[in-house]
Amino acid sequence: MRMLGDLSGGVLNVAACPDEALLRLVSPAGWEALTGRPVVLERELPNYLAKKPLAVLCQRWRESTASLLAQSGIPVLLWGNELPPGLPPGSVALPEFEAEEILPRLEQLSSPQDFAGKTVLVTAGPTVEDIDPVRFLTNRSSGKMGVAVAWAFAVRGARVLLVHGPMTAEVSKLADLERIPVRSAQQMHDAVREHWHEAQVAVLCAAVADFRPDHYVPQKIKKIEGEGMVLHLERTPDILAELGALPNHPFLVGFAAETDDVEINALNKLRKKHCDLLCANDIRKPGSGFAGDTNQITIYAPDGMVRALPMLSKQGAAYCIVDEVARRMN
Ligand code: CTP
Repeated sequence: MRMLGDLSGGVLNVAACPDEALLRLVSPAGWEALTGRPVVLERELPNYLAKKPLAVLCQRWRESTASLLAQSGIPVLLWGNELPPGLPPGSVALPEFEAEEILPRLEQLSSPQDFAGKTVLVTAGPTVEDIDPVRFLTNRSSGKMGVAVAWAFAVRGARVLLVHGPMTAEVSKLADLERIPVRSAQQMHDAVREHWHEAQVAVLCAAVADFRPDHYVPQKIKKIEGEGMVLHLERTPDILAELGALPNHPFLVGFAAETDDVEINALNKLRKKHCDLLCANDIRKPGSGFAGDTNQITIYAPDGMVRALPMLSKQGAAYCIVDEVARRMN
């Protein structure tokens, strides 16, 4: 589950009236950090409703507060309960087992819904290229950047299709975020081909293996005393380049993780793969590496825009990328 500290949008204008079970999930101090106010007691609710919060989060449905909430026009997030009729539009019931959806929902409520009605395809993580039943080729991608991008679009109202390789990054549960797990570059390619036409935006963050063994050996390869081994590799399909070559491709965002000549390589990739934006980072810089939680990205666009972001959390960088996409699409 995502931690409170991950929410970068500051204080959420939500009145939280948690009781026991919700307080076990997020402490009173946690709710205070999230909403900027102490937890709201039931008797204080009328005062808080008068301040027009974005939403009211509560757990038990009490007759005493029912009509008050129904008349307020303020959406109710009801946890662990069915949604009774007559609640203001935007109200949602979160079944108790979906506790991890509470924070994403709150973040969604506090974000502009400028990607509502749009589908965003995101690739994330490494791919794994099998050599034989026990050996494979892969890379150090954790998937965190792609997951952060997927999350950022989802809280802005998009339906997100997250095609990802085997990765360590956790994905918070969010109704509009659909995971499509794959293993190899070929499978990632096939999944993107199957879904790209549904998407208005495609963000390709995955660290796709550029090479794979030219054939898979179905039995474990045994070593031969005194002999080395030659592994023949062939190129994998370049998913980003293939999408970019389509005449009516979605708004296309590519990534480039570089060690040298970052700007030259980034501009080359932007042009060669026909991206609408290219996000580059220097993986040698402390804080911009693979498995960390931060990244320093520079965004390049074909119109010559170069936007150097400061060192940010990967989630913060993802929000900036989404802002740039929104600015150019809307
Ligand atoms: N990409 C892809 N399919 C591949 C390889 C890369 O979709 N088979 C995408 C990545 O998701 C990323 C971008 O292309 O958005 C990275 O470009 P690329 O030129 O492949 O970067 P590198 O693999 O680092 O290439 P090079 O070795 O030439 O630096």
